[in-house]
Amino acid sequence: MTPGVRPLVAGNWKMNGLSASLAEIKAMREAVDAGKAGAAELAVCPPATLLAQAAWTLKGGKVSLGGQDCHAKESGAYTGDIAASMIKDAGAQYVIVGHSERRQYHGETDAAVKAKAEAGLKAGLVAIVCVGETRTEREAGKAIEVVSTQVRGSLPASGGPDTVVVAYEPIWAIGTGLTPTPADVAEVHAAIRRLLGEIYGAAGAKVRILYGGSVKPANAKELLGLANVDGALVGGASLKAVDFLAIAATYL
Ligand code: PGA
Repeated sequence: MTPGVRPLVAGNWKMNGLSASLAEIKAMREAVDAGKAGAAELAVCPPATLLAQAAWTLKGGKVSLGGQDCHAKESGAYTGDIAASMIKDAGAQYVIVGHSERRQYHGETDAAVKAKAEAGLKAGLVAIVCVGETRTEREAGKAIEVVSTQVRGSLPASGGPDTVVVAYEPIWAIGTGLTPTPADVAEVHAAIRRLLGEIYGAAGAKVRILYGGSVKPANAKELLGLANVDGALVGGASLKAVDFLAIAATYL
């Protein structure tokens, strides 16, 4: 946790969810609006097909909404892609960019991620920029080096606490049930915090740095209580309101 920073617990639904899943989003909203979900901000990032419906479900409430990716261009001949302005127009406030699954399966480079993040900001969205090392890189002692290169290359040139969130997600911890040790998480988050200071100056001190990768109700307290860990980016455990809310309850 960072003093004076409101944590963010964001759910990344990835390629999961049909309209029936809106019931989970409704349950999240009800808990948050009833004041039962703790002090953190909650955001849910369903697939693009559900954004507009989710926005209606969340309208007037306190749960935020995000997209999972956006194109770097404002509009044009990019079949199948989604512009940041479309995500905003659908009712979202956030957009995830540079998730390792995008970097891995769609060949997104740091420069591409940076362009997407900047497109998000331009459209009025807060960019959640993901970084993280592979298992081989961690075992080679290169985690900090790899993550630092990604942070330097992927973050928008200008930003601050109201426009940028960084998510540290070790690739080997995503969807595997494995997590780094608290000391390893704290070490990477401290390195990211230093870089945020270099990039954004004083504003970097309050940019939220989320941890992501197999966050579950059972391990949330240990991970989310660490210095410079300002919330979580949650995949699998965000699909069910009960689990997602149990993670958010870390901040009760
Ligand atoms: P996980 O995914 O919580 O299912 O490990 C996290 C993520 O990819 O954002």
